[in-house]
Amino acid sequence: MIVVTTPSGNIGSQVLRELVSSDEPIRVIARDPGRLTPATRERVEVVPGSHSDSEVVNKAFAGADSVFWLVPPDPRAASVEAAYLDFTRPASQAFRAQGVSRVVGISALGRGTPWASKAGLASASLAMDDLIASSGVSYRALTMPSFMDNMLRQAESITRDGVFSLPINGDRKLPSVATRDIASAAAMRLRDHGWNGVASVPVLGPEDLSYNDMARILSDVLGRPVRFEQISLAAYKARLLARGMSDAMAQGNVDMWIAKNHGIDNAATRTAESSSTTRFRDWAQQAFRPRVAA
Ligand SMILES: NC(=O)c1ccc[n+]([C@@H]2O[C@H](COP(=O)([O-])OP(=O)(O)OC[C@H]3O[C@@H](n4cnc5c(N)ncnc54)[C@H](OP(=O)(O)O)[C@@H]3O)[C@@H](O)[C@H]2O)c1
Repeated sequence: MIVVTTPSGNIGSQVLRELVSSDEPIRVIARDPGRLTPATRERVEVVPGSHSDSEVVNKAFAGADSVFWLVPPDPRAASVEAAYLDFTRPASQAFRAQGVSRVVGISALGRGTPWASKAGLASASLAMDDLIASSGVSYRALTMPSFMDNMLRQAESITRDGVFSLPINGDRKLPSVATRDIASAAAMRLRDHGWNGVASVPVLGPEDLSYNDMARILSDVLGRPVRFEQISLAAYKARLLARGMSDAMAQGNVDMWIAKNHGIDNAATRTAESSSTTRFRDWAQQAFRPRVAA
């Protein structure tokens, strides 16, 4: 039995899509089961509720071997610790209480770097990994750079003004990963019931690109000029606050970008295992261009 959290989310829905083609029994935890397709509802067992709720996770994890764990973004959280650790605590107790063997979680790069404890959201993700590991389960933290899919958040600005912006040096080359590759990496480890112990597994995409490189690729793919603009940390934080984010979460984002600008995402080595396949150019053609054209 595999339990999938966030079955309607970006990554969770793609994990579920990969798993339903197997014979494996699957259970999902869904706040709104109505968001699942009728075919999915027929194929999987549904435990209604939030995976931050102790009663819900104890029910969902009963008899399960493996769990896909993802903390949803909580833009209004009172602190980054509340967003990641308080959310995960009931599940981490339930992993032990229900005898779950394996957990595959979505986390961030940075473990072992000087920025590990100063990187806002990324640091909270690493602390979440420690909390899960302390429950005694075997754990694979899939550790991520920024998602290519984040570019969709700036689709409007790219369409209207031909510009996207972040508080980072536009020439710093960084890994980035497509969510479909993250889902494949997770599904592969959820289907495999043979691994043990605790480890971080970076999923790095096939290449390092700067945001100026990405702007050139988007210009090519969209057939019109797109440029990247480095904005100040203060302007970035103001943008997040204007969208309704709490001060603590906006600061957590700012701290993460400071760490990215200092290389927190550049420390993991790209190997055959960590190099996922989707190139930014392919992602832009297949996933971004149709959204901008729509
Ligand atoms: N973006 C990046 O560059 C990046 C990099 C590294 C790591 N990460 C990590 O990746 C994760 C985000 O993944 P994602 O993009 O797949 O997430 P997502 O799609 O934005 O959210 C996942 C789903 O969680 C559900 N949800 C929201 N609030 C909930 C709550 N309180 N209780 C239960 N379910 C709730 C929502 O579905 P319903 O509304 O249907 O319930 C949502 O579809 C975060 O943990 C983040 O730290 C992100």
